[in-house]
Amino acid sequence: MNLEKRCFKVLCLALAALMILALAGCGAQKPAEPGTDVELTGDASHAESQTESQPVSQKDSQPVSQTENSIEPQTETGGVIVVYFSRTGHTKPLAEYIKEELDADICEIEAKVPYTDDDIKYYTDCRADREQADPSARPEIAGELPDLSNYDTVFLGYPIWHGQAPKIIYTFLESVDVSGKTVIPFCTSASSPVGSSTENLHSLAPNAEWRDGTRFAIGTTREEIKEWLKQFDLKVTDNDMKDDSEIIRPSCVLVIEANGKIFYADFEDNSSAEALKEKLNSEAITVDMHDYGSFEKVGALPWELPRNDTQIATEPGDVILYQGNQITVYYDTNSWNFTRLARIGNATKEELLTALGDGDVSVKFSLEWGE
Ligand SMILES: Cc1cc2nc3c(=O)[nH]c(=O)nc-3n(C[C@H](O)[C@H](O)[C@H](O)COP(=O)(O)O)c2cc1C
Repeated sequence: MNLEKRCFKVLCLALAALMILALAGCGAQKPAEPGTDVELTGDASHAESQTESQPVSQKDSQPVSQTENSIEPQTETGGVIVVYFSRTGHTKPLAEYIKEELDADICEIEAKVPYTDDDIKYYTDCRADREQADPSARPEIAGELPDLSNYDTVFLGYPIWHGQAPKIIYTFLESVDVSGKTVIPFCTSASSPVGSSTENLHSLAPNAEWRDGTRFAIGTTREEIKEWLKQFDLKVTDNDMKDDSEIIRPSCVLVIEANGKIFYADFEDNSSAEALKEKLNSEAITVDMHDYGSFEKVGALPWELPRNDTQIATEPGDVILYQGNQITVYYDTNSWNFTRLARIGNATKEELLTALGDGDVSVKFSLEWGE
């Protein structure tokens, strides 16, 4: 290669390197394409350094002016991001509905030290119990924090833990700058309302434009989320093609345990079964049951459930709500006006009788979640 050609090649390489550097610089500033997942990846030390370098209160920043009741419609530069924490997967689908309906970006907060199943067995002095009771607890977030500079609106999703947002949400708010941005909290819980969980986040980001928090029941549908989003006057994408059937929501079965034998029952589609799921999602129960009429074991529930009574001819394996406050497991047939809660699909009368035994028996009812 002669000198002239070699110089030309060197010049070309230098120019290419300059262009790559320039593009990388733009990438750091440019918002992600709408509707993308903003990954929290890489070395968590970055998250730590952000925590240290950014003050807990952002009093120096000025909030942008906004009308009280509406959010500025999405502009070319302003974007919407959904940031959420979801340990057992109930808040996650709601976050995804918001992302899809608004063509927003999405970012899942995950703990640097993941919460194991034992860590979240609440009321056992588990890790989550201790963190929630400790005002200074700030569990570390895994990976880098999202750059929020190009977003005007942040939907912030979390589960209710002991009436409040999990402490990792506190870590998040103390680590990013949401001054002047509209923050819309939403949460799921077994039964508790949003309560003071949102107000208690305000002091962590006092210069954000906080909207009221909203609590959703587990299993809230895309349509319900779509309805809720309407009030915010944000650009909703044309998602008519997407219906609930496309979405895989976590489902659960009723687990019935007696004398060491376990049965799985599919829930009925009624408000009584939904209420039972919500109750058992907070806590498994053990019911002292006794025989009645040589066809069922029956015992008192610790709470009332809504009734959907109708005339039912029972079969072995039916799990029935009687008078709104008693639960029965049928091992034989009967006909009465009451509410079916669930049905054990694969157990014979003999198997049920063997497990439930003669006379009184303690039966544990709990939930098992799957995809
Ligand atoms: C540590 C802990 C505490 C909880 N405290 C409450 C509570 O106070 N009230 C309530 O209704 N549900 C409570 N729950 C249930 C969760 O709020 C509920 O299952 C929620 O939908 C979980 O959301 P996720 O699956 O997105 O993590 C608690 C769950 C855990 C793990």
